[in-house]
Amino acid sequence: MKVHGKAMRSVWAEPDGSVGIIDQTRLPHAFVTLRLSTLDAAAHAIRSMQVRGAPLIGAVAAYGVCLALREDASDPALEHACTLLQATRPTAVNLAWALEGIRQALRPLAPSERPAAAWKHAALLCDEDVAINRAIGGHGLALIREAWARKGREGRVNVLTHCNAGWLATVDWGTALAPLYLAHDEGLPLHVWVDETRPRNQGASLTAWELGQHGVPHTVISDNVGGHLMQHGQVDLCIVGTDRTTARGDVANKIGTYLKALAAKDNGVPFYVALPSPTIDWTLGDGVRDIPIEQRDGREVTDVSGRLSSGEVATVRITPEGSPVANYGFDVTPARLVTALVTERGVCPASEEGLLTLFPERRPA
Ligand code: MRU
Repeated sequence: MKVHGKAMRSVWAEPDGSVGIIDQTRLPHAFVTLRLSTLDAAAHAIRSMQVRGAPLIGAVAAYGVCLALREDASDPALEHACTLLQATRPTAVNLAWALEGIRQALRPLAPSERPAAAWKHAALLCDEDVAINRAIGGHGLALIREAWARKGREGRVNVLTHCNAGWLATVDWGTALAPLYLAHDEGLPLHVWVDETRPRNQGASLTAWELGQHGVPHTVISDNVGGHLMQHGQVDLCIVGTDRTTARGDVANKIGTYLKALAAKDNGVPFYVALPSPTIDWTLGDGVRDIPIEQRDGREVTDVSGRLSSGEVATVRITPEGSPVANYGFDVTPARLVTALVTERGVCPASEEGLLTLFPERRPA
């Protein structure tokens, strides 16, 4: 995607052997890139959410292993890097998938061969992520065209999305936002309702910024508005990303997604989930019971930060001193509330059979 007219990805290898990222904690107020040079810097970037979004944290974790091997490419160093990076965030399964992939690729190699192989592996993972997301975009575009046809090709297609599942959350294109970029680019009249997504405001800060950079018409709404809009025919479809989808089609995504899916069901609004196959956890069935839900620092709830009229970015407290808070990062939307899953291989029902139809190699022998 383009930032100020320049094409870029959300993570890249620098010629000096470091890894470039966009510091997403600074958006939308400042566009700042960082160079990660060590394993600890990569782990910090994921933990502190300088990079976030399921596919991107997988990609940065793979690069984190590359950075670790610059110092020491022995077996214990490789294991230490994978263990450290795995502990950064619990819900998105792409992290474990990326680490297991690079670990398995490197383990059989001699330590001297590992650094070059690791960089190659991470670069390939990134290229594959881009191709997967572009394919998701194509399949999701068909759903948006259908919604447009249902409206008699009049007015505009109103899409609601939650959190940020755009190019900032992946290596490029995004998952839920990829179809929207393609629809906009082909001239389909599109408008996006952007949930602000408290407590970290990924919608207000990141999705709104991304859509704005690309010229996609959008409106930021507070998190509780979606149900009202759906009751009044103002949402033609919802599309969100996911951090982990079980083999049965239950979907973990940013906290608040479940409530949007309930409102969509009640109002007959299609609720789509866009996902690359590395986000499927084939080992889990019941997502509500089994997907680990990240709980984060309560200060994300007690405090909000923003830009003052002076231009300075400041953080202020909004809760009484002493009031306890709880900060759950994700929730699980059961498959029964999901109209369909949009993957790189096509669109399928959110069910075990639906997923196995698209991924027959996963069918038990
Ligand atoms: O806590 P975050 O910002 O990492 O959460 C991100 C999301 O919930 C996204 O919707 C999800 O990772 C899909 S990104 C393509």
